[in-house]
Amino acid sequence: MDRELTMELARVTEAAAIAAAKWMGLGKKNEADNAATTAMRAVFDTIEIDGTVVIGEGEMDEAPMLYIGEKLGSGKMEVDVAVDPLEGTNIVAKGLWNAMAVLAVAPRGSLLHAPDMYMDKLAVGPAAKGLVDIEAPIEHNLRVVAHATGKRVEDVVAVILDRSRHSEIIERVRNAGARIKLITDGDVAGAVNTAFPETGVDILFGSGGAPEGVLAAAALKCMGGEFQGRLLPQSDEEYKRCVSMGIEDPSRVLRMDDLVRGDKAIFAATGVTDGELLRGVRFLAGDVATTHTLIMRSSTGTVRLIEARHKLQKKPHLVMI
Ligand code: FBP
Repeated sequence: MDRELTMELARVTEAAAIAAAKWMGLGKKNEADNAATTAMRAVFDTIEIDGTVVIGEGEMDEAPMLYIGEKLGSGKMEVDVAVDPLEGTNIVAKGLWNAMAVLAVAPRGSLLHAPDMYMDKLAVGPAAKGLVDIEAPIEHNLRVVAHATGKRVEDVVAVILDRSRHSEIIERVRNAGARIKLITDGDVAGAVNTAFPETGVDILFGSGGAPEGVLAAAALKCMGGEFQGRLLPQSDEEYKRCVSMGIEDPSRVLRMDDLVRGDKAIFAATGVTDGELLRGVRFLAGDVATTHTLIMRSSTGTVRLIEARHKLQKKPHLVMI
């Protein structure tokens, strides 16, 4: 994969984040999502890739752009593209924490074509890689993470989506003595944060969107962390959907290489609203916007955090809404 591509991809998430941030707190999640999608789509066409969307805004008949199967870019480098132009639509609508514009790119055939359904997830940073197991009891995984990070279990923090379906997990984590950060939305940020000790979280438990799982796995592959998932089809139809997408046993655990094959993935995320790792977009005087972007490549393990100032009138694509 081309090194230059990393910077190009940062521009894609920057544009989406700026467009979405214009909608912060306005209570309009669909408008925010559309703005991010339109901006992201416009910048993709300036990039020299021959990309195919494998995780996107929906099926062709459901989404006007960035739909699954859509071709992106103007070059010859054959890649799979996974996008979530606005991860955390409700977060932006309410002006809360951790909304991001996110994407992952990897050589053609390396990203799992995850169906749009729930996935049970477990994510940890590099210290606990190879030690956790989504099939083991929660208490075991907490002890393993404590040991691997050199902490007491009481000092381990689990990040969990605040949903009633997680009440048993929450109770078990509390009973085990560990602490919890409940999040309203945005489990990609939750998973990514486990790989950055400064964010104060160590392990992600619980179910969320399967497409978001692939994006999180790409990030953790770049960071040397670990992500495990298990699809949770809710009906016969969803079960058949898994099978038709090539996942013959939907109950099997999906490990890093099932989700993101090889080590040539690139992951990019730009903060839309403030989070533990990324600051959100700021609009300043003089038509200037600032962005904070995480961009990383699994082949080299390089992790860049880029702060940028954008002169918006010189970059009309950045404010396309
Ligand atoms: P959207 O950006 O599509 O609103 O998704 C946000 C999110 O919180 C994801 O991070 C998470 O995987 C999923 O929704 C959880 O789904 P649910 O809200 O149904 O529990």
